[in-house]
Amino acid sequence: MITLESTKISEDLINCYWHPIAHKSELSSDRDFIRFNIKNFEVVVINDKGNFVAFDNLCPHRGARFFVEDFGNEVVKCLYHGWSYTRGKVNVAGVKNFQGCGIEHAALNEFNLEACGDFLFFSIAPKAKLKEQLGVKVYELLRKIGSDIESRADFNRYPFECDWTIALENALEPYHIPLIHTDTLASLQLGVGVNEFHGENSIWYSPVENEKVEKRLKSLNRFYSTTDAFQGYMSIFIFPFSMVSSTFGYSFSIQNFFPSASNESTFFTSRLYPTRNSESRYKDMTQGFVHSSAEMNRRIFDEDHQICKRIPSKAWSILPPRFTSTLEEKLIHFRESCAKWIK
Ligand code: FES
Ligand SMILES: [Fe+2]
Repeated sequence: MITLESTKISEDLINCYWHPIAHKSELSSDRDFIRFNIKNFEVVVINDKGNFVAFDNLCPHRGARFFVEDFGNEVVKCLYHGWSYTRGKVNVAGVKNFQGCGIEHAALNEFNLEACGDFLFFSIAPKAKLKEQLGVKVYELLRKIGSDIESRADFNRYPFECDWTIALENALEPYHIPLIHTDTLASLQLGVGVNEFHGENSIWYSPVENEKVEKRLKSLNRFYSTTDAFQGYMSIFIFPFSMVSSTFGYSFSIQNFFPSASNESTFFTSRLYPTRNSESRYKDMTQGFVHSSAEMNRRIFDEDHQICKRIPSKAWSILPPRFTSTLEEKLIHFRESCAKWIK
């Protein structure tokens, strides 16, 4: 019975919440698109002559998938019979041959899209406004982060072989860092730090306690024009499926842990966005740092994946674990939020 809980609530969580889906810089030109798998459907966000549109990836004619790539620049055109979409309209190939079927109503299956600064969020049937869902503090923080970001530098996607709740809870607790990320994240020697709770969302602020590393990181400050960035490691949880993390605000990593149709697999995507340089001539100089951050993040997520794979979905429940460390506080908060969705 317990094993079914995460599958049961994921449906409501997918439908009722706003999910971060893109930074506007990823869709800056006409025809830019990005595609995500969630459960048993796909959401695509496109730039349609300057308007952002989110929709189900299936052609409204007979359901061929429009896009198969993760992202790119392409016209929305179905390869099967040539239906296309532009300027907010579906163009039906050979429209004269569609009679008496209300063809003028042919439209994409659109989803709701809202922006928090430069971040785009999509929702199917939102229970609240985006600002309400995030809370003022998280909303304002994301707006600030969004305006600091320059563009996407890395796109990393593969299925995590575990339930989405397992993958997410791993991202919510720093207790595993010394053993799982020994040569990567653990080298920062992150302090216990502070957890802030904002409704169902949470933020962890943690100091970098390796003095040498901290000094080196601080010295990079002059190359970036960040707005009041936290001088340490920060991790924001956007309930239910997404995380935003950063060290000193030089780049931001956004991770989506979308449920799949199976409770032994999660649609994981992580993207890295470096922030703007204080002067354009620093861009080349910081390029190497961006590459090594991307590499490091990929290693860290792989380490997370390797351990998450060992945890079967039946190990999860909405009840708090029997034994909990203070480092697992956010995990309990997450379970409480999930519990509200069990009818
Ligand atoms: S299925 Fe797309 S045009 Fe027919
Ligand atoms: Fe981890």
